[in-house]
Amino acid sequence: MLLLTRVVLLSALCAAALGCPRIISRSQWRARTPRSRVPLRTPVPYVIIHHTAGNRCYTQASCSEQVRGIQNYHINKRGWSDIGYNFLIGEDGNVYEGRGWSTRGAHAKNWNSRSLGFSFLGTFTNGVPNAAALNAARSLIQCAVSKGFLSRSYTLKGHRNVSLTSCPGNDLYRVIRQWARFKL
Ligand SMILES: *[C@@H]1O[C@H](CO)[C@@H](O)[C@H](O)[C@H]1NC(C)=O
Ligand SMILES: [Zn+2]
Repeated sequence: MLLLTRVVLLSALCAAALGCPRIISRSQWRARTPRSRVPLRTPVPYVIIHHTAGNRCYTQASCSEQVRGIQNYHINKRGWSDIGYNFLIGEDGNVYEGRGWSTRGAHAKNWNSRSLGFSFLGTFTNGVPNAAALNAARSLIQCAVSKGFLSRSYTLKGHRNVSLTSCPGNDLYRVIRQWARFKL
């Protein structure tokens, strides 16, 4: 009985650990302070997948640099309060905290208040993210569900199916179309 309890407890702990990837916090990537924040009402029913359409990165140092550049671009050039995405995913296998779980993003017009926006760092028109990034993204989705920020019956969408854009790139779009809960 005691053994059974331990087995159940251990598998529950493993499932929880498997559900969340390594997340590099804003202070770890040296984010700027957002100008303002609008709370996101969770759980949201949608997760929207993007690519950043910039360079790929394979180390925490270079991905952090990319993320800082995107934040500067979104604040300085787009005039947004902060980096647009909720989270970004690097080919170093890390996830980078953007606006996070509880702040409304600026990543998909008309969808920001009911979705989380996850963006792969890189351009995936020709070529797909590596296994480390794909696994991190899938684990991030499970993490969002297990933490209660994404509805259990969520719908996964590509940015191109909610806005006039080629994002997340032809090749990455072909991959996410095969993922669980993808719908047009
Ligand atoms: C979704 O995107 C694909 C690829 O761009 C396109 O072929 C398809 O028509 C789109 N469908 C809808 C409903 O947006
Ligand atoms: Zn996009």
